[in-house]
Amino acid sequence: MQILVLHGPNLNLLGSREPTVYGSTTLVQIDTNLAEIAAKAGFSLESFQSNHEGALVDRIQTAAREGCRFIIINPAAYTHTSVAMRDALAAVDLPFIEVHLSNIHKRETFRHHSFFSELALGVICGLGAQGYQLALACAIEQLGNPLSRPA
Ligand code: DQA
Repeated sequence: MQILVLHGPNLNLLGSREPTVYGSTTLVQIDTNLAEIAAKAGFSLESFQSNHEGALVDRIQTAAREGCRFIIINPAAYTHTSVAMRDALAAVDLPFIEVHLSNIHKRETFRHHSFFSELALGVICGLGAQGYQLALACAIEQLGNPLSRPA
């Protein structure tokens, strides 16, 4: 797996969870779409969602050992609280893009701070599910197209 997509807590409820804030696209639809785009570009992509901070830390650590080269992450509520996930990303030293469906800067002040943004290659927020596609387009660009690489 070359690209890992990580989703934090409550994102498994996308589609029915506060649709006016997060849209009506389900997580399965997002992940299926990303896997298709990545496959067309010649990359393997895996998605992982958890409601548990430790499970997400474990997945970040495992990704590095498995040869993952790029992470797209929506840490969800852990964006605003998790030093442990930030430390895991710093430890593995993989490039990552932080994605949020909603514009966290237009919302409650406790959502304005992210423990991740400082380390991220880039941050996309407020563009709904399209934000993941834009992040993936960037990841593909960054990793280069293996189909055009010399053998
Ligand atoms: C979110 C924004 C967070 O503040 C919130 O806790 C989420 C989702 C987003 O995608 O807009 O769960 O990361």
